[in-house]
Amino acid sequence: MSFAGKTVLVTGSTTGIGEACARIFAESGARVMVSGRDADRGHGVVAAINAAGGNAQFPAADLRGAAACGELIATTIERLGRLDVLVNNAGILYSADAVHTSDEQWLETMAVNVNALFYLSRAAVKHMQGIGKGVIVNIASEWGLNGEPNHLAYCASKGAVVQITRCMALDHARDNIRVNSVCPGEIHTRMVDAILAQRGGDMGQQLRELAAGIPMRRLAHPAEVARCVHFLASDLASYVTGANLPVDGGNDATGGAYP
Ligand SMILES: NC(=O)c1ccc[n+]([C@@H]2O[C@H](COP(=O)([O-])OP(=O)(O)OC[C@H]3O[C@@H](n4cnc5c(N)ncnc54)[C@H](OP(=O)(O)O)[C@@H]3O)[C@@H](O)[C@H]2O)c1
Repeated sequence: MSFAGKTVLVTGSTTGIGEACARIFAESGARVMVSGRDADRGHGVVAAINAAGGNAQFPAADLRGAAACGELIATTIERLGRLDVLVNNAGILYSADAVHTSDEQWLETMAVNVNALFYLSRAAVKHMQGIGKGVIVNIASEWGLNGEPNHLAYCASKGAVVQITRCMALDHARDNIRVNSVCPGEIHTRMVDAILAQRGGDMGQQLRELAAGIPMRRLAHPAEVARCVHFLASDLASYVTGANLPVDGGNDATGGAYP
């Protein structure tokens, strides 16, 4: 699955799933735009990719706002010449039910997980219509397909991502633009570590308990999600659009009844 000659923007690629996506696209020949707020981590990811023979750049961007999203797409096209693949990965999570979700937490979750994804995708599609093709892969969540206690804003935001994926796939199928999402389950990143740290207690024990509730009895490595993103973005998935692919060790198949 060569991406030689292609350009890819991965939002939220200073760590975790986004970093794994940036690395796999670079390894397969794409010129990659790494993005996020943390400049130290962003430059570190770019340095590692370029040291391994890849071609990556890092423009820092806080995506909480339409202007920043438009600017990131414009910068990508200006620096790389075109945009073939947009991976909407940046995301945040607060653990709270409705009563304990503040206005600020609700609005920030929607700003990063939904609004930014919409602004970026809209700008990307306008460009892709101009060049006659393109691919968008959204990072939704298994929690956008099913409910999860104590994560109201996050689940609502990821449900929106699932529906944006379906609607944009339908609207732009005739533009030769494919739009899909992956819906990760439990992937071992800073996000999961932060949730467990907030719960308190022994981290190793919590990770073992989390794994015990997953049909495959383990968390995933971020690269296992990145490989699915890579596939959906590639010509191997040329007839796949509007799909929301669970990458969750079997969780979605349980229908919520943990084995
Ligand atoms: N880990 C899981 O189990 C899991 C499961 C399902 C879905 N997901 C989804 O997968 C995606 C990546 O998750 P992850 O686990 O890799 O999370 P992570 O380790 O917390 O990384 C999140 C990324 O998003 C970026 N980001 C956050 N707020 C941003 C903002 N305002 N502007 C720009 N970038 C921002 C962060 O960059 P900076 O800190 O540099 O800004 C970071 O690169 C998210 O959409 C998440 O919801 C994760």
